[in-house]
Amino acid sequence: MNIAILGCGTVASGVCRLIAKEREGIARALGEPVVIRKILARTSAKARALGFGEEEICSDMAPILADPTISVVVELIGGTGDARTFVEQALRSGKHVVTANKDLIALHYGELLALARENSVSLLFEASVGGGIPLIEPLRQTLALGGVRRIYGILNGTTNFILTRMARDGMGYADALSLAQKLGYAEADPRSDVDGLDAGRKIAILATLAFHSRVTFGDVACEGISAVTETDVAFAARTGRTIKLLGVAQRQEDGVTAYVRPALVPNAHPLASVSDAYNAVFLQGDAVGDVMLYGQGAGAMPTANSVLSDILRAARTAPVHSDPFYEDLPVRDEGGESVYYVRLLVQDRPKVLSGIAGVFGEYGISLASLVQETRPGERAELMLFTHAARERDLRAAMEALLARGDVHGGCAMICLEEKT
Ligand SMILES: NC(=O)c1ccc[n+]([C@@H]2O[C@H](COP(=O)([O-])OP(=O)(O)OC[C@H]3O[C@@H](n4cnc5c(N)ncnc54)[C@H](OP(=O)(O)O)[C@@H]3O)[C@@H](O)[C@H]2O)c1
Repeated sequence: MNIAILGCGTVASGVCRLIAKEREGIARALGEPVVIRKILARTSAKARALGFGEEEICSDMAPILADPTISVVVELIGGTGDARTFVEQALRSGKHVVTANKDLIALHYGELLALARENSVSLLFEASVGGGIPLIEPLRQTLALGGVRRIYGILNGTTNFILTRMARDGMGYADALSLAQKLGYAEADPRSDVDGLDAGRKIAILATLAFHSRVTFGDVACEGISAVTETDVAFAARTGRTIKLLGVAQRQEDGVTAYVRPALVPNAHPLASVSDAYNAVFLQGDAVGDVMLYGQGAGAMPTANSVLSDILRAARTAPVHSDPFYEDLPVRDEGGESVYYVRLLVQDRPKVLSGIAGVFGEYGISLASLVQETRPGERAELMLFTHAARERDLRAAMEALLARGDVHGGCAMICLEEKT
């Protein structure tokens, strides 16, 4: 079976190494070997370093599209520019496409799938969410049949590494981020990770599959971890909780919601103990109950394993022609009710506390508990938990609070319930 690989980076080199290492196993599983017939590289030196000769290296799609023996194109370039064009060209030429590209799938899955179906080929993207964790196929093949109500999880290893170091070693956010950059867990420009965008793309893909309805990256409200402080982490620990950045997608009576937010997770919840760069997804279905899938969310070899499993799947199984969007649910930007943790830095003087409690009251939010700690400069920090409150009310209350002259900053985070 002949394939072409697009790109020569981290994942592509992992795939090349894995195909070489598992030659015999692949041939036994497939009945024939997998041969990388072409590799598309911007600079041929990288492809040569992977052991490819001049006849295999190409700098554009033409030789790949013109070769009728190539049945699978593996896109490992990333982004939505050239990668999208190349994927479209491959699908139009009747070649199966395997991709690890969450940016592309989270935005253009609908159009690309339509193109794949028109051309009777498969579009497979196991590696786009959760790196080496088998998530997409189990979800698509079995789990999504059993009435999924909620799917949520730790979908970004970089932020989980940062939050783990803050909780375990008492590091501040900036120091934990620098350490993540030093160890290669975070990019020099970490915004896509720390602002929750990477997790947002992944929850859009999971929501689409779980609810049989189109959810794109643009539908996901993303909030990252840059506002999380040592105070939040310590306070969460004191109350038996751990802060995690969660991607959450929920099916409601009249639609779906999807968002990414830091959340206080009870230590008894299995997600609380998912540490460092690991990822985990928790799914709740009517038939299946609770399922958790856990593993390495990135890295050359775990991701290559998912890519290779898709390559074999493309060869072995016929493309699916049923409509994956048959539910066609509206996406709502309003989450349901939740308990919230709120931290506010306030002026430490009489009547401030009653004024703040009054604002919460105005928006119909009742407070469950409150702790006050003195801070330098005649200030105090308030850490409080609300009773279950509507997201809309909480947001409005926070806006009103942060506009007050005696409130100098603060943040609000969702609390995951003990029994979800
Ligand atoms: N790394 C992971 O752990 C991981 C995990 C899951 C999913 N993914 C996904 O896998 C994909 C690849 O990620 P990666 O980490 O392997 O990225 P990478 O190391 O940056 O590699 C990207 C490769 O694509 C090449 N490339 C970029 N634009 C190109 C173009 N227009 N034409 C030809 N080649 C081009 C780059 O060429 P140059 O070498 O010339 O720059 C590089 O070789 C992304 O979609 C990513 O989101 C990665």
